[in-house]
Amino acid sequence: AANGGDHHHDSSGTSMHRLTKVSVIGAGNVGMAIAQTILTRGLADEIALVDALPDKLRGEMLDLQHAAAFLPRTRLVSDTDIAAVTRGSDLAIVTAGARQIPGETRLNLLQRNVSLFRKIIPALAQNSPEALLLVVSNPVDILTYVAWKLSGFPVSRVIGSGTNLDSSRFRFLLAEHLDVNAQDVQAYMVGEHGDSSVAVWSSVSVAGMPVLKTLQDSHTTSASASMIMKEEALEGIRRAVVNSAYEVIGLKGYTSWAIGYSVANLVATLLRDQRRIHPVSVLATGFHGIADDHEVFLSLPARLGRAGVLGVVDMELTHEETKRLRHSAKTIWENCNQLGL
Ligand code: 2OP
Repeated sequence: AANGGDHHHDSSGTSMHRLTKVSVIGAGNVGMAIAQTILTRGLADEIALVDALPDKLRGEMLDLQHAAAFLPRTRLVSDTDIAAVTRGSDLAIVTAGARQIPGETRLNLLQRNVSLFRKIIPALAQNSPEALLLVVSNPVDILTYVAWKLSGFPVSRVIGSGTNLDSSRFRFLLAEHLDVNAQDVQAYMVGEHGDSSVAVWSSVSVAGMPVLKTLQDSHTTSASASMIMKEEALEGIRRAVVNSAYEVIGLKGYTSWAIGYSVANLVATLLRDQRRIHPVSVLATGFHGIADDHEVFLSLPARLGRAGVLGVVDMELTHEETKRLRHSAKTIWENCNQLGL
């Protein structure tokens, strides 16, 4: 070698590859949907599962391990103790906590889940001081703030799954309405992942064409004309997005698949440094007139990569959308403020 024959190999004779480790805290329906999607997509070399119920946890781990012959090779470990298995995680995903029973709002869960976070977050931060923290438990915006405070992590490394899911529901409903593929619908829900979420109608587009544009040009093709939506259809779609979770919870008791895919979608962007833009819960202070003394997390389109939040898109909102976003911020902030963190 150029440096005088002083080169060396590691003991296995191969070059060292830094392994990617993801911890999933909470092995319930949501945690397992996320773990399963991460496995299928081969996004991690190691997954550590943590849950308070030891039998359920070991059962879930074994059940996934038994699929090894059909999946990318991934080491699976589990323990009820965060310190025992999560050390050195690149990413820790928190799904643990109480979930809504039919009729409950996400905000109803706050006190129960804050108590739990007081135990979970410091242990995670201590064992994986360089990790990205991705919060999924509800109410997600407030708990992302709580995780930020309790971890002491820089704000760029604490992210809430936020309205990435609501935006997918929005795109699905728009796609159905317009009879196009949801992947061709650009549309964002921002603000609270919950009842006060805001549909950013002014930026909804299909194939780069604004959906709200009024029919002025008589030469507009019929295909374009069919993509121009009537005002009355709009509020119905927003209400359907907000009602989505309530409907699924009423029918099957919980939501899991869509949140699982939406979080795995974030995991891929983060760990593979994709710099994609996702509506996720980030510190929104200073955006859209949210006052500097209001430390509030809510969803805005954010550019994500291996380092976490790389930037927040300063969206152009209409007066009405800004008003709704500020209302959403106020709801969240009032809840955060009373926690005394
Ligand atoms: C959802 O929106 C309940 O927050 C959960 O699916």
